[in-house]
Amino acid sequence: MGDRRLDQPLILYLHGFTSGPQSKKAQALARRMAQRGLAERTAVRFRPLVYSSIAALIVSGLYRIISTPGHSPRYHALLGVKLLLAAHVFAVSALIVKKDSPRRTRLMTGAAISGFAIIAIASYLRRIF
Ligand code: HEM
Repeated sequence: MGDRRLDQPLILYLHGFTSGPQSKKAQALARRMAQRGLAERTAVRFRPLVYSSIAALIVSGLYRIISTPGHSPRYHALLGVKLLLAAHVFAVSALIVKKDSPRRTRLMTGAAISGFAIIAIASYLRRIF
């Protein structure tokens, strides 16, 4: 981290065993981040990464579908569920990096849940044809 500019914020958040989003520490950090506009700045920085990741996942996923034909109906049904969940993750990710996006934390939780489900389905798809 030698070239990190000193005027850039660095947050080291040590998560306690019993602390949660409603804890004093988390609330104080959220207030401080809001005062400094950190959530907005972080969202703006992540925007290009989010859009290029979506494009890369669509291109590589379509390539994979086209290059391996002949799958079973069960495979296609599960792939359809995975694609719907992926569409949910993409839409929510675009909303998260939008300017002044309300309910960012809630949206991120939804995207994470769908993301885990997608990975579970993808690993099952590898085993069936
Ligand atoms: C949030 C978005 C997505 C995530 C997190 C995700 C994740 C994954 C993972 C972890 C794999 C297993 C990779 C491997 O076998 O090494 C996979 C496979 C695959 N993905 Fe995705 N994916 C996403 C979106 C998409 C999209 C948009 C498409 C299609 C347009 C797609 C199509 C596929 C296909 C066809 C496979 C191969 C399944 C098989 O093994 O037969 N994925 N994905």
